[in-house]
Amino acid sequence: MNLLDYVKVLRTRWITVCVTMLVAVVAAVMYTLTTIPQYQASTQLYVSASSGSSITDLYQGNRLSQERVLSYTQLIMGETLAQRTIDRLNLDMNAASLKARVTAAAKPNTVLIDVSVRDTSPTRARDIANGLSDEFVQMVSELEASPVTGASPNARVIVEQRASVPAKPVTPKKLRNLLAGFAAGAFLGVGLALLRDQLDNTVKDRETLEKITGTGLVGSIPLDKDLHKKPAISFEGNSSSVAESFRKLRTNLQFLAVDNPPRVIVVTSASPGEGKSTTAINIALALAEAEHSVVLVDADMRRPSVDKYLDLVGAVGFSTALSGGASLRDVLQKTAFTNLTAITSGATPPNPSELLGSQAARNLLSQLREQFDYVIVDSSPLLAVTDGAILAANSDGALIMARYGQTKREQLAHAIGNLRDVGATVLGTVFTMTSTRGANSYSYNYGYYGSDRRDSVTKSPTVMDRVRSQAHDPPDSPDASRDNTQVAEPLDDPKQVTRTSDGERPGR
Ligand SMILES: Nc1ncnc2c1ncn2[C@@H]1O[C@H](COP(=O)(O)OP(=O)(O)OP(=O)(O)O)[C@@H](O)[C@H]1O
Ligand SMILES: [Mg+2]
Repeated sequence: MNLLDYVKVLRTRWITVCVTMLVAVVAAVMYTLTTIPQYQASTQLYVSASSGSSITDLYQGNRLSQERVLSYTQLIMGETLAQRTIDRLNLDMNAASLKARVTAAAKPNTVLIDVSVRDTSPTRARDIANGLSDEFVQMVSELEASPVTGASPNARVIVEQRASVPAKPVTPKKLRNLLAGFAAGAFLGVGLALLRDQLDNTVKDRETLEKITGTGLVGSIPLDKDLHKKPAISFEGNSSSVAESFRKLRTNLQFLAVDNPPRVIVVTSASPGEGKSTTAINIALALAEAEHSVVLVDADMRRPSVDKYLDLVGAVGFSTALSGGASLRDVLQKTAFTNLTAITSGATPPNPSELLGSQAARNLLSQLREQFDYVIVDSSPLLAVTDGAILAANSDGALIMARYGQTKREQLAHAIGNLRDVGATVLGTVFTMTSTRGANSYSYNYGYYGSDRRDSVTKSPTVMDRVRSQAHDPPDSPDASRDNTQVAEPLDDPKQVTRTSDGERPGR
């Protein structure tokens, strides 16, 4: 992963980072609010050793004091002095507890000792610090006194600075806790985002999609709230990003095989809810918009939706015609859209796979091929049932929907395997419900095109290579200008080229 990849991950997973940071900051605030404030009172002790009046004696006395200072700091933090202080001040605590509140530190190369005592009460902190220091003066005089001769002690301690009542608590440190929470949250958030990215095995980019499927990406349909509410787009005068994405898909479809474009196309996917029906309907509508006569067949007999999405009669349809219950004429329904006819699924039969794999189904599809320019077949998910694969084998090819950030890589690979196993042609893949925001955005700057309805082709090497090889027209050849394609002004994405709208009406 390079720096750009990291930035991309963070842009995609910014919610993870923000939520983790928020949780850490809230935890820091909670910790700060629930921590009982501690006050610290300090004294300073001066250690002096008795010595003669000569310079040597004074020097030795000073050294003696410095050496003692280190031992004294240990004694100050010891349990004996703690117990003596408790007795002296009549404190309601044990020696271990007091000992834990006391710290003593010797200042280097001096004979000074700083003593600090922490307590939840500021006055008690002061009293303990002063009482402990006084008790230590007493203790040293006892320790340093010669037990044999009873001579004056070798060293003595003076409380050089007494403690006063601390004005502010030393803990909790509000700002420090908040900053620590923020930093920890950011660190954890970024880690979590990277981890989630590593563990994410859904398809989110073209390279992965094309590698798994072995075919080109022929379209990317953005996630669109309106499409969710109203699955059939009204293409007339519509230059929204989602309408343009279907126009692009339409153009790419026609360029899949310039001389013999696929006309009976099965729309399928690995799993349920990946946008098959919505995409099938709008591919049909986009083709109808370009003056092609189109029939949309709902061959998903397990979970039919074309009748619901297009507000049609669902009871009589494909299954009825296949079982001989009605003629093809009877099941064809006019839709509210020009050039678009539909066949709903009909009543759910007990044996959809058998019905779809029957000779009757093949005959019906060829009759439809005769009557219409395009036959768009909505089907069931490939990993659930064999219906989609059976249909694909009897068509010109299948378009595989992959839901952005949802379809798992192995599911997609498995679905492609199912299609290849039955000898079906995989025309290409379509990303559905792609993110329209952030680093993984698949939306383009459609405003650039205005409403002139030119379709742009996303330059997928696989698709374009096929176009070129089938048109026998190398891209750099001067003859390329004879083609009805035009290279447009450079776009945001230099890989994109813009082409004029649809080619010829396909021959029957
Ligand atoms: N581009 C899109 N933007 C927003 N919502 C979408 C889009 N495509 C599909 N949806 C929504 O996703 C849901 C599933 O879509 P759809 O019914 O087309 O999927 P499906 O693959 O046909 O499902 P099933 O396997 O159940 O037949 C629907 O609620 C639909 O409105
Ligand atoms: Mg469906």
